[in-house]
Amino acid sequence: MAHSLPSSRFSVFLFCILLLLLISSSTVSGARLGNARLTDSSSIRRILLNNGLGLTPQMGWNSWNHFHCNINETLIKETADAMVSSGLAALGYTYINLDDCWGELNRDAQGNLVPKASTFPSGIKALADYVHSKGLMFGIYADAGTQTCSKTMPGSLGYEEQDAKTFASWGVDYLKYDNCANTGISPKERYPKMSKALLSSGRTIFFSLCEWGNEDPATWAPSIGNSWRTTGDIKDNWDRMTSVADQNDKWASYAQPGSWNDPDMLEVGNGGMTTEEYRSHFSIWSLAKAPLLIGCDIRSIDSVTFELLRNKEVIAVNQDKLGVQGKKVKKDGDLEVWAGPLTDNRVAVVLWNRGSSSANITAYWSDIGLKPSTVCDVQDLWAHSTELSVQDQLSAQVDSHACRMYTITPQ
Ligand SMILES: *[C@@H]1O[C@H](CO)[C@@H](O)[C@H](O)[C@H]1NC(C)=O
Ligand SMILES: *[C@@H]1O[C@H](CO)[C@@H](O)[C@H](O)[C@H]1NC(C)=O
Repeated sequence: MAHSLPSSRFSVFLFCILLLLLISSSTVSGARLGNARLTDSSSIRRILLNNGLGLTPQMGWNSWNHFHCNINETLIKETADAMVSSGLAALGYTYINLDDCWGELNRDAQGNLVPKASTFPSGIKALADYVHSKGLMFGIYADAGTQTCSKTMPGSLGYEEQDAKTFASWGVDYLKYDNCANTGISPKERYPKMSKALLSSGRTIFFSLCEWGNEDPATWAPSIGNSWRTTGDIKDNWDRMTSVADQNDKWASYAQPGSWNDPDMLEVGNGGMTTEEYRSHFSIWSLAKAPLLIGCDIRSIDSVTFELLRNKEVIAVNQDKLGVQGKKVKKDGDLEVWAGPLTDNRVAVVLWNRGSSSANITAYWSDIGLKPSTVCDVQDLWAHSTELSVQDQLSAQVDSHACRMYTITPQ
C-alpha cells in the first residue's frame, strides 16, 4: 500500500520552512540570525507545538479502562452511536479513541501496521469514516518501542514516519503514544520523532504522549505534544485516584492552552469507587485541566454516572479558555482546598474531604487569590444553586471522600 503524496508533502515542507523564517525574523528582533539559528532546536520546537489543537483539554472516550484488549469494530461503532444519542457528544466529548490491541502481531510485507482481521475486519479507515460520519473525531494508539504494552502489536520505534502516514491515510485525528518495550532509549529521543512524523503526515493529528511521567515530560513535552501523562496508570480505586491527582498537581504551572498535564483517563462509571469518590475524581480532573476521556461503557451507562459526566458547569471549568490548571492551595490534614483562576476574574474552587468522617472545610479568599474584602457571587456546581454577595470565605460541611465545587464571581 502506498501512502505517500510527494507533492503535498513537499508543500508542507516548504510551508514549514517559510513559517520558520517568519518566526525567526519577527520574534528574535535584534538577535543574530543565520544558518545556526535555523537548526537551533528551540525554534524548531516552536513550529512543532503549532498544530492548533488542544486549546482546551481534549474530551472523549478511550477503550482501555473498561475493555482492555476486548475491543472490536462493533463495540467502537456502538460507542460512537451512544456518544451522540446520550447527548455526551454535544457537551464536547468528541474523540472516540482506540487503545492497545487493534492490530495484528506483525507488520505486512511492506512494513505497514495491519488492523486485526478477526476484530476489525472492515479495517481502520472504514471505522474512522463511520466515527466521522457521526460528527466525531477518531483516535488510535501506538507505542514508542518495539512492541505495544499488550505485546500483541508491533511498536513504532524506527517506523515513525511510515506509521504516521498510515494513520493519516486512515483519517486518524489523535494518537496516544505509549512507552512499552522502549529498549532503554530516552523518551526525549523517541517522542520527538513521532511528533515530527505526525506534523509532516499531511493530516492534523492530536499528539498525546504517554511516557508515564518517567522523565518529567512537563519540562520538555510542551514543545512536541498536546498532552503528556504525568503518572503511571490510574486504577479504579480511591487510593490510586488520589495518588495520581497529587502527582499530577506538582506540574500545574506547565499546563497551558495547546499542552496539558495528563493524570490518565477517567474511571467514572466503572464501579470501583462510590458516587462521591467519582464526583471528587471528576471535579478534580476538571479543575486541573486534565483530559476528560471517559473510560466506562457508555452504551450502558447508569443515571448516576450520567449526572456526573454531563454536568455542564463542571465541564465549563475544564474547558475555560484561560487554560490555567487549578491546584491544591491549602491542606489541613485530610481537608483540602483546590482552586484556580478562570476567565472574567472568576475563580473555581473545590473543597475536598479526603478523610474518613464528615468535616467543615473553609476556603478563605486569601487562600484562593481574592482580596478578603471582595464581594462575590458563589455558584455551587453540583447543587446548581447560587449564593449572592459572599465575603471573606466560603465554607461547607463535606462528607467523607466527597467534595463541593464552586465558581466564585467578584461583583
Ligand atoms: C465486541 O466487544 C464487546 C466488548 O468486549 C463484546 O461484548 C462483543 O461480544 C464483541 N463482539 C464481537 C462480534 O466480537
Ligand atoms: C464552618 O467553619 C466556619 C469557620 O470556622 C464557620 O464560619 C462556619 O459556620 C462553619 N460551617 C458549618 C456548616 O459548620
